[in-house]
Amino acid sequence: MDLQVKDGWIEVIAGSMYAGKTEELLRRVRRIHYAKKTVLIFKPNIDNRYSNNEVVSHDNGRIQSNDIRNANEIYNYFGSVMPYAVAIDEVQFFGEEVIDVCETLADKGVRVIVAGLDKNFRGEPFGVMPELLARAEFVTKLDAICQVCGAPATRTQRMINGEPAHYDDPIIKVGAKEQYEARCRHCHIVLGKPNGKK
Ligand code: TMP
Ligand code: MG
Ligand code: ZN
Repeated sequence: MDLQVKDGWIEVIAGSMYAGKTEELLRRVRRIHYAKKTVLIFKPNIDNRYSNNEVVSHDNGRIQSNDIRNANEIYNYFGSVMPYAVAIDEVQFFGEEVIDVCETLADKGVRVIVAGLDKNFRGEPFGVMPELLARAEFVTKLDAICQVCGAPATRTQRMINGEPAHYDDPIIKVGAKEQYEARCRHCHIVLGKPNGKK
């Protein structure tokens, strides 16, 4: 009987902005480096807030990454052997194709580590995240600190000229401290939310 444990699974690191998602992703990547195993790092090239070709956390932790537009481009970075792990930051910005890529890699024995916002500024599930969270073997949900009341923050408040953003604002708007705050459920405000929307 073959009782050998096989590698290959999906890990999701989710939470609001400023919860330390990228820090946690980088921590896992560094441990893989210490173990002298290979890891390829990717992020969508929509997010050039702090740097191109680097994953950068709000605390300025940084590591070399490959900026790609479509998750299928990940396959182009493989040589003759598969890497031990693939890490993707800001995964919420990828299209549906990222689900198939993560599943395929995990099936082939790759440890897939992805980090992303579980909710958009409206407080609703962000893009592909619900699907990834459901399919993952391991989920880590991190919280930040509410900038209004100090409670654990699970949501991201978008501010426009000092006012809460309107529900109809575009979902994608790259930014940091100048337009986003971490907030708890009770301090999170969305203007113009349609009746009956939770
Ligand atoms: P972070 O999770 O690493 O802090 O980065 C989240 C990025 O997502 C940041 O560039 C702002 C962006 N963002 C949106 O595009 N739409 C949203 O609704 C929210 C909350 C964030
Ligand atoms: Mg981040
Ligand atoms: Zn609060």
